[in-house]
Amino acid sequence: MCGIVGYIGERKAQDVLLKGLSRLEYRGYDSAGVAILHGHKMDLVKKRGKLKVLAEELNSGPIPGAIGIGHTRWATHGAPSDVNAHPHLDCKRRIAVVHNGIIENYLELKNTLIKEGHKFISETDTEVIPHLIEKFYKGNIEEAVRKALKLLKGTYAIAVLHKDEPDKIIGARCDSPLIVGVGKGENFLASDVPAILDYTKDVIYLENHELAVLTKAGVVVKEHSGRRVAKKVARVKWDISQAEKSGYRHFMLKEIFEQGDILEAIQTERLRDGRIRFQELAIRDNIFKRVKRIAIVACGTAYHAGLTAKYMLEELAKIPCWVDTSSEFRYRDPIVDKETLVIIVSQSGETADSLAALREAKKRGATVLSICNVVGSSIARESDGVIYIHAGPEIAVASTKAYTAQLAIFYLLTLHLAKLKNTIKTARYNMLIREFRRVPNLVKELLSEYKPDYNPLAAYAQEFKRYYNEKHNKSFFLYLARNINYPNALEGALKLKEISYISAEGYPAGEMKHGPIALIDENPWVVCIAIASKTYDKMISNIQEIKARNGIIIAVATEGDKEILHHNINYLIEIPKVEELFSPLLVVIPLQLLAYYVAREFGYDIDQPRNLAKSVTVE
Ligand code: AGP
Repeated sequence: MCGIVGYIGERKAQDVLLKGLSRLEYRGYDSAGVAILHGHKMDLVKKRGKLKVLAEELNSGPIPGAIGIGHTRWATHGAPSDVNAHPHLDCKRRIAVVHNGIIENYLELKNTLIKEGHKFISETDTEVIPHLIEKFYKGNIEEAVRKALKLLKGTYAIAVLHKDEPDKIIGARCDSPLIVGVGKGENFLASDVPAILDYTKDVIYLENHELAVLTKAGVVVKEHSGRRVAKKVARVKWDISQAEKSGYRHFMLKEIFEQGDILEAIQTERLRDGRIRFQELAIRDNIFKRVKRIAIVACGTAYHAGLTAKYMLEELAKIPCWVDTSSEFRYRDPIVDKETLVIIVSQSGETADSLAALREAKKRGATVLSICNVVGSSIARESDGVIYIHAGPEIAVASTKAYTAQLAIFYLLTLHLAKLKNTIKTARYNMLIREFRRVPNLVKELLSEYKPDYNPLAAYAQEFKRYYNEKHNKSFFLYLARNINYPNALEGALKLKEISYISAEGYPAGEMKHGPIALIDENPWVVCIAIASKTYDKMISNIQEIKARNGIIIAVATEGDKEILHHNINYLIEIPKVEELFSPLLVVIPLQLLAYYVAREFGYDIDQPRNLAKSVTVE
């Protein structure tokens, strides 16, 4: 996934583009570039490396001009390099293009264009776009872009400049997000809202196969056929400060500490007088009533939220439920029909595999509900109904607040379905609602024990780093849990591995003796989730098996548990007592923090880990 921006107005384009790209760096950060027009001259500057490398270059030699496009890259075709960075140009260096997505038929197009005499200099798929536009250009850039788009197969969000038409920018999208920021005497293009919020809150969400022509005076949106489309201007409800670090060292830490407030806001918005409300949901209760099975489909952290939801849906709503990763769902032959509710979970709402799974589910006649964070995202718009988690912009690549917000929505959806299907007694329903209402304050209480900069978990992380060095880098992490917290074992492991690059694996604790126990010696650090639950005694047995083999244990236990102290655990993390059903919302907090502090000990770029991007909009 990459980030693209465009600007046309009265300001210095260079400043607007750099600011916009800095807000989109979470989408990809291995190289960046800009193309800026002034008069009939086009300046192109693009550099391998993070945005700050480009910014240093530009600030040492500023480019004049009030119209330009910019790009921050997550490489798909062609290694990160100056020449593979965007924007890409045509042969005559008159047309500049930035692109987010993958052109699947680029080789075929490139070979044809080379036969027609076009010269390519990069290894990217994107470079075919300016050359195609050049091929069709007869003095009208909009026309030429439209003709070129007809030949593209794959996904794209693009911004295009032509130096002989310096009064407009063309934007177009297919399966990659692109929005227009509407200003006064100025207009913007961007992959995502944070890039334009410093200047305007008025946005137009472009749909698939729409093309936008931006001038200083206004925006015209057309279908690729050329037919003009009337578009609503939406007002963004949050402001740019929510996309800032607000004094935290990293976005990830800020987003971890926001979770109590977000869970509280979800309850305020969704729970009124014991009734559960999904105001934006276009799927009616009569549809939910006829649902015979549920498939939850997602990637990564969202997948772990789905795995947790399976426990609650089957226990409370008595609906058979299975959970698939999006990439598996769409390539196997899932038993999905009109009695199946497919729930797509996606923070960004742009994950390519999840979008493809959504389309596969619809093709098979399922009702598709999505649970998303980004309003107006592709998955949200293509679902039959969407429930937004309203967690605010999640900038850190490692998802934290979105995960607990997804869980909160699943709890409310489960209780709603259970009530609808009469599978829960009123007394139990009311008790669970009361208990659920306690959770935000319990999360805030738990977080208040961890001062952002120094606390027991930071100390454990320091100890691990020392031990890791002592064991010549042979240490790694195992996360063990049972029942509704088993997905948290997977989530804790994912958090740690994706930001500290240390091997970490989550496992159902009952599976230990079926293989993983062979790993136990003095090297691994084993996180055991042993909270007050119906499987507590089983977890204690696991802890004893590990200690008998010199394993090192970090135990996550319920506050006040004295029993756990008799089992020679090495490190203890306590969480407040809560109904076991809701315990995943608390258990995950120290797992997120542990991953954060370990990564900080190793000095890695926590918000932008290597090889990753915030939303994977390519397969
Ligand atoms: C989680 O920390 C990762 N960044 C990643 O697994 C992420 O959850 C996954 O790519 C799904 O993203 P989505 O929720 O935006 O679809």
